[in-house]
Amino acid sequence: MHRERPPLRARVVGTGSYTPGHVLTNHDLEEMVDTSDEWITERTGIKERRIAAEDENTSDLAYEASVRALRDAGVKPKDVDLIVLATMTADMPVPATACILQNKLEAKRAVAFDVGAACSGFLFALSVAENYVKTGAAGRVLVVGAEVLSRFVNWQDRSTCVLFGDGAGAVVLAPAEGDEGILSVELHSDGSLGNLLCLPGGGARSPASPESLQQGLHYIHMKGNELFKVAVKSLEKAALECLKKNKMKPSEVSLLVPHQANLRIIQATANRLKLPMERVMVNLQTYGNTSAASIPLALDEAVRTRRVRDGDYVLMEAFGGGLTWASALVKWAA
Ligand code: UT7
Repeated sequence: MHRERPPLRARVVGTGSYTPGHVLTNHDLEEMVDTSDEWITERTGIKERRIAAEDENTSDLAYEASVRALRDAGVKPKDVDLIVLATMTADMPVPATACILQNKLEAKRAVAFDVGAACSGFLFALSVAENYVKTGAAGRVLVVGAEVLSRFVNWQDRSTCVLFGDGAGAVVLAPAEGDEGILSVELHSDGSLGNLLCLPGGGARSPASPESLQQGLHYIHMKGNELFKVAVKSLEKAALECLKKNKMKPSEVSLLVPHQANLRIIQATANRLKLPMERVMVNLQTYGNTSAASIPLALDEAVRTRRVRDGDYVLMEAFGGGLTWASALVKWAA
């Protein structure tokens, strides 16, 4: 039987994002813990973050971002074949947040599942989705990064609570016809460093109990300083790996869209790649670290503000719990 040759590439045909309305500023945090706007700004670059309302869950943020991305792509929910959602703050352990989203969207024929790679989650989800499109197994794919981190942060721990925010971003992938689209996605994991960023409670190892609550195991635990050092090295390597695969130099990158964890990490990576900051998308001052949502949130803003244009080479890179790190190179075509 004659089978059509599968498309060689996937491309992004729509982007969308959503953040909750409530703004928590550094000055608000000064009232809550022993911190200062000066410390947070100098050490992280963050000025404010968005916090989900009590009745807003990860799937609700994901829904709003997805509706916008699908509208941008001109794709109806009923025509979506696959939903891959990256999160570390799922609505609940079962069902997957992707299935809850599928139901809200009424994307009845879409297969839906979650991907867990913490802050690198969006690029891991993009890689899965890209491969479905490349093999011809799916035509229209919704890739989402969504988080309500504010529910997993210890609001009495100044070393973590000032960093995180809530939000969601989404892209729609479709088969590419020309030489545009996702050129490559590189993924890495190192489980031996898993203790640097974890949320240890609520799983099979430490199910929810009065003791686990008392020990704060249901909160994000992070060894920020150690992570920082690994992050800078890994991100440079991942970025160069992606470029090398495509026989490109850093100077050919039109826009770097990095995971928005810390301005100092972003600047150090840009510096190592000799990329001027004008070619780096930064919006963490407004949203903080939104984990899996940060790249699609920044990408959508870059598209809306016309910082990405057809033919541009967009490099994305992320680093997070697992440990995991990743990069992706896209030749943009709207
Ligand atoms: O997104 C996934 C991956 N995550 C990351 O990549 C995060 C990477 N790490 C970082 O971004 C940084 O390490 C942090 C922003 C988390 C921390 O910055 P740092 O420059 O590494 O600070 P530190 O942890 O070394 O702490 C320096 C000092 C300490 O005081 P002492 O021991 O020197 O007296 C902390 O207790 O700053 C103190 N400190 C604070 N002071 C005021 C820690 N948090 C705060 C705070 N306000 N919020």
